[in-house]
Amino acid sequence: MGLKQKQISYESHDSLQGLTESEKALIQESRDAFEDAYAPYSEFRVGAAILFEDGTSLKGANQENASYPLCNCAEQVALNHAAMAHSKKTIKSMAIAVDSKKLGENPISPCGACRQIILEYEQKQKSPIKIYLVSYTDKVFIFDSIKQLLPFYFEFS
Ligand code: THU
Repeated sequence: MGLKQKQISYESHDSLQGLTESEKALIQESRDAFEDAYAPYSEFRVGAAILFEDGTSLKGANQENASYPLCNCAEQVALNHAAMAHSKKTIKSMAIAVDSKKLGENPISPCGACRQIILEYEQKQKSPIKIYLVSYTDKVFIFDSIKQLLPFYFEFS
């Protein structure tokens, strides 16, 4: 019995200024990605960009369906693409951006299902994926691993 606490840690930036050129490029790519969103129902366009260890990258954007539960999140679209087209590559980082002002100045935060799915790719490649969450005002939160965003994640041991 007893109250226990678990801490998470992340970097918070109010602008892109302190970021490296490669980080800025990945964030720009995630913003380019939401141009390919298909979001006529929510009008909430999300973009994700994946950077591999070898310096190559790819994009994903949310793809919606009139049957709402069938909507695919940007993160899942990008990861599915990576799994099929670049199955041997290691994912270094992922940036997630949104064009909507619906979140105010807050960076987007991935849904619970996407967190669990990103975690699966970390387990598969046996190395963490750095996560960049981006607001439309250039606020950025950086997490060293999706585990920071998903304490008590589900896994088989
Ligand atoms: N969405 C994403 O693509 N990623 C997230 O992290 C959160 C939500 C999408 C799903 C749906 O198309 C729209 O945003 C509204 O929920």
